[in-house]
Amino acid sequence: MIKFLDLKLINKRFEIEFKAKFDRFLNSGQYILGEEVLKFEKEFAAYCGTTYCVGVSSGLDALELIFEAYKVLELLKEGDEVIVPANTYIASVLAISNTKLIPVLVEPNPATFNIDVNNIEAAITKNTKAVLGVHLYGQLYEVDKLKAICKTNNLLLIEDAAQAQGATNEKGRKAGSVSNAAAFSFYPTKNLGALGDGGAVTTNNLELAETIYKLRNYGRSSTYENDIKGFNCRLDELQAAFLRVKLPCLDRDNLKRQELANSYLNKIKNPKIALPYFSGLADHVFHQFIIRCQTRDDLRAFLYQHGIETSIHYPIPTHKQGAYAEFEKQRHPITEKIHEDVLSLPMNPVLAPFEVEKIIDVINRY
Ligand SMILES: Cc1ncc(COP(=O)(O)O)c(C=O)c1O
Repeated sequence: MIKFLDLKLINKRFEIEFKAKFDRFLNSGQYILGEEVLKFEKEFAAYCGTTYCVGVSSGLDALELIFEAYKVLELLKEGDEVIVPANTYIASVLAISNTKLIPVLVEPNPATFNIDVNNIEAAITKNTKAVLGVHLYGQLYEVDKLKAICKTNNLLLIEDAAQAQGATNEKGRKAGSVSNAAAFSFYPTKNLGALGDGGAVTTNNLELAETIYKLRNYGRSSTYENDIKGFNCRLDELQAAFLRVKLPCLDRDNLKRQELANSYLNKIKNPKIALPYFSGLADHVFHQFIIRCQTRDDLRAFLYQHGIETSIHYPIPTHKQGAYAEFEKQRHPITEKIHEDVLSLPMNPVLAPFEVEKIIDVINRY
């Protein structure tokens, strides 16, 4: 069976370094917010091209801390509206509603799966204060256009870069550096994945970074002083140590993903399958390779019978989830169709060439 994602194999490549890191960690006696977190923050900020990086406990926490920090800084307040693509993973929307802001769902461009910039202005009201752009499946949203819309309408632009570590636009700007503040997830399946939960916020804004440093650690300004009400959302020291081992390999892994995407794009030839858009540039790091098929479930069963595991990102849109009963009457036909017919093929840097050939061959025989 070709696994959809073999995390054991992905991490096996770093086994010796991980074990050495663990030994050093155990003997350091410093298990929370130590050297590894500090060094990772410096290295990841340098990688993304931002001044600051704050290590936090997950991608969802990173997003929530950005919204909370803007509330502390009085740039956002309860009840403000935040525009977000309707087809994103539910976590993007949860971050908005969990911080008592109002998510306004906007349809994506079906070619790129990213927010359709042409739909944004119609969704803006006097209460709109921010846009949460998502680089879905690893592809940058339309950076310049989204920035221009936010500037014209005086909106904060926040980036959900959970799926896009390393994606780079034609001007060399990386995911995490093309907004006011960005959230990353290091959930194990991500292009840069930890061995547990982890996340980060990147920004060039000192005030925002300082607020998030405090918020992630009980609102502490010094050992015994807390000037704001905070949380416990720190990046785990051991996860930071593991991420430091993997970060130098991220670009190489992303290149492998792009090569694999090119094989799929050049060799899958089946009129029943629609392939994803790829500019051929570094702006897509293929966290997922998404195909579309009218008979998606049948195709998925066919692939499984032939020894190929696939996945679906995502089968149920946020506005149809029980958790969002308040969105029950909303209609987002492009999003609903996407959720009905998308299928994720195996996409990762450890897939063997013979496995890739087999996947292509079986899809072409469907
Ligand atoms: C687009 C997006 N945003 C946010 C998150 C949340 O990240 P985490 O799982 O680290 O909380 C995810 C996680 O999969 C995601 O895909």
